[in-house]
Amino acid sequence: MQLKEAIEARASVRKFAPEAVAVADLQEMVRCAGLAPSVNNEQPWKFIAVLNKSLMASMAQAVHRHLDQLFPDTPTARDQSVKNTVDYYSTFFKDAPALIAVASKNYEAMVDKLLPLTNMGHQDVNALRNYPDVQSIGAAIENLLLCAVDLGYGACWLSGMMMARQELEGLLQIAEPWHLTAFIAVGRPAGPVRQRDKKPIEEIFQVVE
Ligand SMILES: Cc1cc2nc3c(=O)[nH]c(=O)nc-3n(C[C@H](O)[C@H](O)[C@H](O)COP(=O)(O)O)c2cc1C
Repeated sequence: MQLKEAIEARASVRKFAPEAVAVADLQEMVRCAGLAPSVNNEQPWKFIAVLNKSLMASMAQAVHRHLDQLFPDTPTARDQSVKNTVDYYSTFFKDAPALIAVASKNYEAMVDKLLPLTNMGHQDVNALRNYPDVQSIGAAIENLLLCAVDLGYGACWLSGMMMARQELEGLLQIAEPWHLTAFIAVGRPAGPVRQRDKKPIEEIFQVVE
């Protein structure tokens, strides 16, 4: 598949056929993710493929619980409906054949060497640079999603479930210096994949001369 075909075919897929995802295919997706640009070429990422259904069920339960703790009161039917929607979009991964957890760790940037001359720490500079660590992970995930399309899979990037980050890190045994950053659900799409409407080019592109 040509690159632009994959870009144009990609859409978030949340309903999957029961067919398993071959580990070799997951490895190829992660290989493509690892080719992405990253701050200082630090490649501050690690990808953990979860295939265990009972672990996925425990992870979904953790997300349900955290949503209940964060939003214990839903006084109106509309509030409850929003909460149900958030819950669905944060837990549908439990029915995916594979879930890839993305972990990241602190990188060392060139500018960090100047920090002893200031009263700033690494996280101050990271914030000033607008989180290049998170930006790097985004580039890697997009590569992964496009590779999934190329291999005939559908996938969906998830951040909603990060609300249960600490508990999920425990379940996945992710420990310092690593931190969970995002997830990607992967599988063969259960039906036709529909691209969502996107903004016209005139709205998103500007030239400054
Ligand atoms: C950073 C990020 C976080 C996202 N988190 C979720 C999520 O938690 N749950 C979900 O169902 N979709 C999630 N999505 C998918 C978006 O909803 C989806 O990309 C968007 O609606 C556009 O649809 P498309 O991917 O089909 O173009 C996320 C996407 C991005 C880029």
